This record gives sequence, structure tokens and C-alpha cells, in this order.
Amino acid sequence: MYITERIAAELKDETHAALITGDISRRYVSGFSSSAGMVFVTKNKSYLIIDGRYFEKAEQQAKGCEVLLLTDLRKQLYAIIEEHGIEVVSIESKTVTVSELEDYKKLFNTLTVDASSWLSVTIERMRIIKSEEEILKIEAAQRIAEAAFSKLITSIRVGMTEKQVASVLNFYMMDLGADGISFDTIAASGVNSACPHAVPTDKPLQNGEFLTLDFGAVVDGYHSDMTRTVVIGKPDDEMKNMYNAVWGANTDALKAVRADITGKLLDNVARSTLDAWGYEKYFTHGLGHGVGLEIHESPNVSPKSPFTLREGMVITIEPGAYIPHKCGVRIEDMVVVTSDGCLNLTKTPKTLIYI
Ligand code: GLY
Ligand code: MN
Repeated sequence: MYITERIAAELKDETHAALITGDISRRYVSGFSSSAGMVFVTKNKSYLIIDGRYFEKAEQQAKGCEVLLLTDLRKQLYAIIEEHGIEVVSIESKTVTVSELEDYKKLFNTLTVDASSWLSVTIERMRIIKSEEEILKIEAAQRIAEAAFSKLITSIRVGMTEKQVASVLNFYMMDLGADGISFDTIAASGVNSACPHAVPTDKPLQNGEFLTLDFGAVVDGYHSDMTRTVVIGKPDDEMKNMYNAVWGANTDALKAVRADITGKLLDNVARSTLDAWGYEKYFTHGLGHGVGLEIHESPNVSPKSPFTLREGMVITIEPGAYIPHKCGVRIEDMVVVTSDGCLNLTKTPKTLIYI
């Protein structure tokens, strides 16, 4: 069943339509990636209205909708509205801006514009559970990221800067076939590793430092996400202890993942392990997040998460410990939630790597 058909099935009746305009949701719903366009879903038929830059490709690639070349938007929409007897149009309240809402109210001045969260929530509920096809794309992205990491660790040398490390890793991911990188790669060494989202600097790598690498590849719009912390030269005892604490938290959380556990409880599993090692106060972010067409999407896994995990969700498990002005460790895997556990898409071992 096409996604447009699934949305159509949730429209309240024949007079109700959904207008999907967000770049990510439009891609999800139509299967076609573009920087413009709109999908108009009615009970019986869906349309992708798109401009001449994309029309030809959209005709070949869009799924579950008739593709119309944008000429006169008002005229085209009203032809559809009249054909199907539409009276109410729901818009995506979570992505439409205030000024766009004003424009839609003018455009649909003879109809009711539903700006409730209904459409955004409906699409989010669909996106949060990944299909087999989506999981295959995420897995393909993860395989590329891991192959790039394996190549990188044989290339890292003392004296390379964080920026150089990040750019080599990015190059390897692209060289291995990624369509893009998931986000700005994090390569943080020494004191910089104490900052969870450090931006790579000109600081050269030195012996006795952690190097945290957080990165991912994109394949056909789907992201991967992983973090490994390695050591340059040899770690001292405190660094070893810290690494083992975070590794323990990662292992315990992975064992606890399953459908029906809440995001809060899962987060707490990792936090309890870190507490037992004396590092809980240094774990300053949530345990994980959903991954898919966006690098961060629902469900989040944190002390305040409102989510319960379900089969088919793809989430990260990324405990960390960050001692201010000293150093930090993060270990991140990406898993598919199953009925009684999870499938770990991250195959890179977690034994501390000495560079
Ligand atoms: N890997 C980047 C993040 O999860 O924020
Ligand atoms: Mn992450």
C-alpha cells in the first residue's frame, strides 16, 4: 500500500484532503526527493504538483500519486477541489510557518484550513515505524560508515588535526558510495572530547588522548549514525575506567531494548550502569534518538521521552561521559527494535582501539 493511500485511509471523509508541503514528509509520502512541490491527498486520488525542474524525474519516480506540472497553482488546486468536493484541507502544523499559514488561508479562502497537529502527527506515526525497504537503506548507509571508519583508523597519525581526521572520514564515506554525510562529522580529541557535540578544530592529535568520532552516511535519503571513541597512544587508568563504564552502559542498554519498553526506562538502564561506575553525573544528554530520513527523529530515548518502543523503530544507543576540561567518551550503536530485543546494525567492535 502506498503511503498516500495510508494517509487517504485516515482522512475523515470524502470532503477532507491533506496538503503535504514539508521537504522530508513530501519525500516520505511521494517517494520523490525535491526542494519544492506539494502532495495533495484526497480519499480517492493523490497528486504531486511540482515545477519544471523536477517534473520529468518525478513522473518516473513518484509513487502513489499523479504528477502534475506546476503552471497555475490556484487553478490546478481548485480543479482538484471541485472534482472531489473538498471542503476541509489539513496542513502540516509542525512544518508550515506562520506566513505560509496565512498564504494557505488566502489560497483556500472558500474552504476550512485545518491547522491542528492531526496531519503532522499522522505522518510522524507512520514514519516512526520503518519498513523493510527503509531498514535496508539505513543498513546500507551504516555499512558504508563502518567501512570508512575501518579505513580511517589505519590512516590516523599523531599530529593530524581534528579537521583533517573529519575530512578524511568524510572522503572515505563518499568514496565508498555514500550519497552524502548524515551531519557534520565530529572528531574531538583530548579536552575537546569533553564536549559532546564538539566541532573539529585545528588542534593536532597527541599521545594519551581520547578521540571521539561521531559520523554517518546517507543512502537514498536514509541516514546512519555511529560513534566510536579511540585512544591515541595509551590511556591512563582513569581513561580506561571511563571507557569501560560507557561500554558497560551501552551493553546494558542494548540488552534492555525491546518492543514495549518506554524510552524513559531504557534511558534509565544506561544511567544506572553509569551511576554504579560513578559517572552518571557526567552523562549530560539523552540515551538516543530515532534515525531515518532525518538524523534526529522520533522516538527520542531520554529521561523525558514520551515514547514506548515498538517493533520496527530504528534508534541509537549512545551513552557517554564527559568530564569538563578533561576528556569524554561516547559509544553509539544504531539498532532496529524487535518484539523481544533488537537487531544491532552497528557491527564495529567496541574493544578500545589504540591508534
Ligand atoms: N550523532 C549525532 C547526534 O546524535 O547528535
Ligand atoms: Mn546519534
